Amino acid sequence: MQRGARIAGWGKYVPERVLTNHDLEHMVDTSDEWITSRTGIRERRIAADHEGTASMVLAASEQALQRAGVAGSAVQLVIVATVSPDYQFPAVACLLQAALGAQAGAFDLQAGCSGFVYALITGLQFIKSGAYDRVLVAGGDTLSRLLDWTDRSTCVLFGDGAGAVYLEACDGPGEFLSVELGSEGSNPAALCMDGIARPRTICAAAPVTGVGPGLPALAEEARYIRMDGREVFRFASRILGDAVRRVTEAAGWSLADVDAVIPHQANLRIIQAASKALGIPLERFYVNVDRYGNTSNGSVPVALCEAVEAGIIRPGARVVLASFGAGLTWAATAVRWGG
Ligand code: ACO
Repeated sequence: MQRGARIAGWGKYVPERVLTNHDLEHMVDTSDEWITSRTGIRERRIAADHEGTASMVLAASEQALQRAGVAGSAVQLVIVATVSPDYQFPAVACLLQAALGAQAGAFDLQAGCSGFVYALITGLQFIKSGAYDRVLVAGGDTLSRLLDWTDRSTCVLFGDGAGAVYLEACDGPGEFLSVELGSEGSNPAALCMDGIARPRTICAAAPVTGVGPGLPALAEEARYIRMDGREVFRFASRILGDAVRRVTEAAGWSLADVDAVIPHQANLRIIQAASKALGIPLERFYVNVDRYGNTSNGSVPVALCEAVEAGIIRPGARVVLASFGAGLTWAATAVRWGG
């Protein structure tokens, strides 16, 4: 008998503190007009001192499990997508497993801002293989702690937040009709942050990180996110549309059939470019980048959760989730909501 998975619960958490573009005008040489016109972002949320990625994914996961009517102890596998874990190790997923009281395997997954959709597709495989019936997939980031708040080219773009979905096994094909994972890793410097164990001199296995050979690891600027904005913009504008098109076709749908696209929320102009390339009206793309900025691994699950809460995604809806990020990576899946 065929086995599939369905999304039985969804949840989100964003910190209370709002940082507006006008607030940023007092911090760096920027303007509300520049940020809004180039990115569509008006404000973002910033984690309080007592918050972090683990506490945010826990709040989102508790909401997802509550919606599904399932106790944390029933979860068999916990996957967390993040680029800003509380610890280098252990994984955030282990903290989450303990906090939920789950007897579960737990691991983090890192695929830049594509991580949540990568993790969702990974969780799906554990269900389809028959290994597990109940999998929690969360994504969240506290990028406010990885930003150089004196660098106007990056600090205006990001925010903090987390989301989660609870996956359950079901008979038949389930909700996930097609998936795609991708990576173009030849230019890591396009969007990067040094790891704490980066080689001290250049070597073939650890190519350019954008700071040149021989520079000691962990120079001051290496502690922060660095990005070639135009390069990432070009990549994202191309890949978002391409990935949505391919998973839609693989699901056996036409682009006109798609009821809702939940794209990674990095820049409104990237979403507009995908809408234009695909001929799918912008109204069918869920957009909240104006309120949260780019929350990295929180982006897609928070948007999905809001779209369901708002009644935009209803049972039977044809939904495409698509993300892109550091790597450069991308991931997408076509979901028949509610089976
Ligand atoms: N305020 C005012 N001016 C600024 C700011 C700012 N916050 N930031 C940059 N500028 C200036 C630049 O210095 C530059 O000035 P110059 O012409 O004198 O050199 C000018 O604005 C134009 O800069 P551009 O880089 O050409 O601006 P662009 O229109 O390309 O927009 C942006 C920049 C918004 C970063 C865009 O390239 C972009 O969105 N790229 C993709 C970023 C992204 O999505 N990253 C994350 C994706 S993956 C993930 O989620 C981790």
